[in-house]
Amino acid sequence: MQKKKPIVEGLERFRQQQNISFHVPGHKHGELSHLPQAFKDVMRYDVTELSGLDDLHHPEEMILEAENLLADTYGTMKSFFLVGGSTVGNLAMIYATCKKDDTIIVQRNAHKSIFHAIELVGARPVFVSPMWDDQTLTATHVSYKDLKEAVDYYPEARAVVLTYPTYYGMTSKEIQQQIAYCHEKGIPVLVDEAHGAHFSACALFQPSALTFGADIVVQSAHKTLPAMTMASFLHVNSDIINVDKINYYLRMLQSSSPSYLLLASLDDARYYIQTYMESDGAYIIEKKNQWVEALRAIGSLKVIEVDDPIKLLLRVEGYSGFQLQEALETKQVYVELADANQVLLVLPLLKQGHNYPFAEIRVRIKDAITILLNTPRADIITAPHTAYNFVAITEPAYSIEEIEKSEKEWLPYMRTMGRISSSMVIPYPPGIPLLVPGEKITVAKLSQLEELLATGATFQGNHRLEEKMIEVMK
Ligand SMILES: Cc1ncc(COP(=O)(O)O)c(C=O)c1O
Repeated sequence: MQKKKPIVEGLERFRQQQNISFHVPGHKHGELSHLPQAFKDVMRYDVTELSGLDDLHHPEEMILEAENLLADTYGTMKSFFLVGGSTVGNLAMIYATCKKDDTIIVQRNAHKSIFHAIELVGARPVFVSPMWDDQTLTATHVSYKDLKEAVDYYPEARAVVLTYPTYYGMTSKEIQQQIAYCHEKGIPVLVDEAHGAHFSACALFQPSALTFGADIVVQSAHKTLPAMTMASFLHVNSDIINVDKINYYLRMLQSSSPSYLLLASLDDARYYIQTYMESDGAYIIEKKNQWVEALRAIGSLKVIEVDDPIKLLLRVEGYSGFQLQEALETKQVYVELADANQVLLVLPLLKQGHNYPFAEIRVRIKDAITILLNTPRADIITAPHTAYNFVAITEPAYSIEEIEKSEKEWLPYMRTMGRISSSMVIPYPPGIPLLVPGEKITVAKLSQLEELLATGATFQGNHRLEEKMIEVMK
């Protein structure tokens, strides 16, 4: 097995040479910085494209070697390090496959970076609504039937964009069939696998979309691997993708001074996953199972397991996820997210022998729940998922360009029936956009909005829902 970490080793060699800096960055190996010493120690490695340190945008030496090891590890034709998160990977994959006015088929509950990419490119989205999962109370994947229908109806689509797994760690058994069908029709499948960089680590985890033949897969190494925030991967494993175009857009969209700290961290994360053994996977699963059992012994606490073994949902009946989050934070337990129903935990991707203080954390969780149970219960905590009878396949009536050119006005949302939305309204939960720009506002959508507001859902997007206003085309 390859034990190399080319970027980490290259940076270490460079540091040991006691070099004098007459170059950027201006902190001069951290010496001019007033940050605490621990920061300054790290800044020793925060260098730039100097001789021997290669260049992310034209890699020929250690960065190329490290990216080749990444491709070997994930079994791809070409893999890239990203220093702008999966956000930049999602932008690049859509830029590389679609142009203005091209049709693109998109799972509706996609991350905002997918919507931003479509808007920037000026492509015409066709949305496919996801299914609802009653166990996790979350929106999951699109069904094979709905995706096939979208592909049959829009055979001119230049790409299909799927999210796998969901933020909540749910996967889809149908993705393989979906990819195969798109390929039959000559359409590439781009997968936002931001939450699944660890899937390839061992066979005990869910398979990566790469296993099913996805053409481009973007992963946030920083989300589940031991990598620094923003550090991500983009993999291409396809004959129908032009790798040069991916390269071209990554050069445009990423900084010309990419952080070497992030690059080193990506090199290290690749090493971590490459050396991850089946026995490591068995170890974390066993540890997790023991912990789940111990947590379930805490009265009032409901523990929900999801497809991804390193994610877990916690609920306390009668209390919202936000209340539970607040109570946990009084005991210094910080969760990944809270929604109306629950909190989501991301467990550490342990290797055999790693210890994590699960027993102590259980005590803190128990204490937090005692505090929670002494506070008033929430009035409504269940998301109105039954209202999510979305039309499976939808296409905005107007393009982003048409919306941009038109006059707009802010109106109380109850007076917008039949108008065209120029607002994006994304309620959490369920994280499925209720309104996207260019869509017609229907009675059904307005009553869903009313219900969501009543449940205390939070909303992302461009709206003024605190004043009950949304923006529409004039
Ligand atoms: C599904 C999904 N895709 C993409 C992203 C963006 O990832 P990053 O933070 O690495 O830019 C996120 C971030 O939360 C996400 O949840």
